[in-house]
Amino acid sequence: MDCKKSDFQLNHSFTYLNCAYMSPLMKRVEEAGHAGVERKRNPFNISPEEFFGETETLRGEFAKLINASDPKRVVTIPSVSYGMANVAKNLPLSQGDNIIVVGEQFPSNVYPWMKAADNNNAEIITITPPDTKKDRGKTWNQLILEAINANTKLVAVANVHWADGTLFDLKKIRERTHEVGARLAIDGTQSVGALPFDVEEIKPDALICAGYKWLMGPYSIGMAYYGPALDGGEPVEENWINRYESEDFSNLVNYNDQYQPGALRYEVGEHSNFILVPMLLEAVRQLNEWGPANIQQYCKDLTSTGIENLKFAGYWVEDEAYRGSHLFGIRLGDHHDLEGIKETLNRENILVSFRGDSIRVSPNVYNTQEEFDKLIRVLCA
Ligand SMILES: Cc1ncc(COP(=O)(O)O)c(C=O)c1O
Repeated sequence: MDCKKSDFQLNHSFTYLNCAYMSPLMKRVEEAGHAGVERKRNPFNISPEEFFGETETLRGEFAKLINASDPKRVVTIPSVSYGMANVAKNLPLSQGDNIIVVGEQFPSNVYPWMKAADNNNAEIITITPPDTKKDRGKTWNQLILEAINANTKLVAVANVHWADGTLFDLKKIRERTHEVGARLAIDGTQSVGALPFDVEEIKPDALICAGYKWLMGPYSIGMAYYGPALDGGEPVEENWINRYESEDFSNLVNYNDQYQPGALRYEVGEHSNFILVPMLLEAVRQLNEWGPANIQQYCKDLTSTGIENLKFAGYWVEDEAYRGSHLFGIRLGDHHDLEGIKETLNRENILVSFRGDSIRVSPNVYNTQEEFDKLIRVLCA
C-alpha cells in the first residue's frame, strides 16, 4: 500500500512516530464526529432504532477485522480496564491458583488480576524478560510457556509488549493454556488494527482493545471480544439496553431477566454513543479496506533498512521474528547518551516515546520514508 498521509491532517512540522501513544484521526473520522455532535441539535431526529443500529454495524466491522464469525461476541467498551473487569468478575479462582502476566505489562491488564488474586488468595506470576539481548524475545516466550502449570487459571498478555513491541506467540500460549484448562485474555490495544489478529485461529477467551491507538478511533471507546467461556456470566454493570427485547421502548419497565444474546450483556451502558460510535466505525471500516496485513507490511517496508543502520550504529533492536514492525523498542549502546538523544529529537520535532529502557518507535501509514529516515539520521549522527 502507499502512504496515506493525505487522509489525515497531521501537523507537517512534526515527525509523528508515536501511534502507540495515540493515533491521529483520519479526516473521515473527524467528519463522522462532527456529524455526531450536530445530530443532537434536533434530538427528534434520533430514532429509537438508532440506539441499536450503529453499534451493531460497528460490531460487525470489528468482527471482520479480527475474523470473528459471530459479531454478537463483540461489544463496545469505554476502556481496557472495563473490558478486563468483565473477565475478572467471571474468573473461577481459588487458593493456590495462579494468574500469569509478563513483566512491566500495561496496568489495566494487571490491576484487575491483582485484585482478583488478592480476593481469592491466588497468586500472580510475573514472567520478566531474560537478562540478555541474545534471543531475548524467543527466550521470554519460552519462559512464559514453561510457567503455565496445572494451577494456572488465566494467562493475561498482549500480542505485542506495549513498551518495546516484543511479540508474544499467542498460538503456542493458547495451546499450552488449553492443555491445563486455563483461560487466555489478550490486550490487543497495541496491535489490533496494524497487525493481523484471527479470533478463529487463536480462540482467546477475551480480546480487549482500546480504540484510540491502532484502531484509529477517538478516546473513551474500545472493542472487546468474549469467547464461549464467558457465556452466561455476570457483567460488571446492569444496563437496560443489554436486556432482552430492550428495543421495545414502551416495555422497558416490564423488567426482563434475560440478556441480549452472545456476549452483549458485557457491553457498556449507553453504548449507542452518537458521537464516538460513528467515529470508530469509520476508522475500523477504513482499516478493513486497507487490511492489517498491508499496514504491517507498510511499516516493515518503511523501517527495515533503517533498523539495520541502527544496529550498525550500536543500537539494539529485537529480531524481526519477535517484534512488531509497527511498534518496536530501540535500546542504546554503552556509548549513547540518552539525555542528548532526547534533546535532539525534541529540537528536530521528532515525536517518539521513552518507555522503560527503550526508545519506543511506532509508525503508521501516515508516515513517509523521509520521516522515518530523519529519525535514523538523528540517532546515527
Ligand atoms: C497495552 C495497553 N493497554 C491498555 C491501554 C489503555 O488502557 P485503558 O483503556 O484502561 O486506559 C494502553 C494505553 O497506553 C496500553 O498501551
